[in-house]
Amino acid sequence: MERNALCWCGSGKKYKKCHMAIEEKMQFHAEKGEIVPKRKLLKTPAQIEKIKASAALNTLVLDEVAKKIRAGISTEEINKIVYDVTTSHGGIPAPLNYEGFPKSVCTSINNEVCHGIPDENRILEEGDIINVDVSTILDGYFSDASRMFKIGQVSERAEKIVRVTEECVELGLAAAKPWGHLGDIADAINTHAQKNGYSVVEDIGGHGIGLQFHEEPFVSYVTPKGSEMLLVPGMMFTIEPMINEGSPDFFVDEDNDWTVYTIDDGLSAQIEYMVLVTEDGVEVLTK
Ligand code: MF3
Ligand code: CO
Repeated sequence: MERNALCWCGSGKKYKKCHMAIEEKMQFHAEKGEIVPKRKLLKTPAQIEKIKASAALNTLVLDEVAKKIRAGISTEEINKIVYDVTTSHGGIPAPLNYEGFPKSVCTSINNEVCHGIPDENRILEEGDIINVDVSTILDGYFSDASRMFKIGQVSERAEKIVRVTEECVELGLAAAKPWGHLGDIADAINTHAQKNGYSVVEDIGGHGIGLQFHEEPFVSYVTPKGSEMLLVPGMMFTIEPMINEGSPDFFVDEDNDWTVYTIDDGLSAQIEYMVLVTEDGVEVLTK
């Protein structure tokens, strides 16, 4: 792009005062053989504003779930809260009809790794741990985050896996830096999980997000430090490791084709933050 032309991102600034430095730096890394994001993965200021509004609604939905979740309610009741709060604020639950997913939210309990389907017959019981994964479309822009909830008094085993998963995501976030790599996040997460005797699911991971539900890159949480895509200001993606008590292996429900279970029936926990890489750090948009 010509240095004095208006920048492609729509900021209204000249290219030389806007994305030129970033793209020269990317070019330098690309020449060393590194994986750099395509321009379309760098969100523009206008897109960032829209996506932040979507993310704010996503957080509000999770907060509403947090207020109401307790022993005795069904996962279908969680689905109803998510649908009602999202739509009453002008949003659409992103999971609903996504590749045939039948509900507005994923609810994954105990040995369920992810993609559990809300069900009126699945009643939360004291001692359960549950991941509620909320994803929102607002004005065509996507956001995604999930939390773990402990239902009443839970076992020490359950307590520990939820705590360590929180620590993993926070350590992953702390390792995320502009001009670092996705593998830095993975390494921080995987190291902490292993130190606690846990494993990290390998074949399901995070993703770019914002203009679509699932964009490039695929985000692994088992790759080495310094590997994978360069982290460039403007990128958005999720940090959402699935941590298993035992084996990282899993199987998918044969009846519904969605729910993922641990192969050894061990507990699994997941927490998801959606982040934006900025020039001086990483901003959490929804968690
Ligand atoms: N929120 C999940 C993710 O992080 C979405 C699963 S797709 C669905 O990728 F259809 F199950 F919702
Ligand atoms: Co996600």
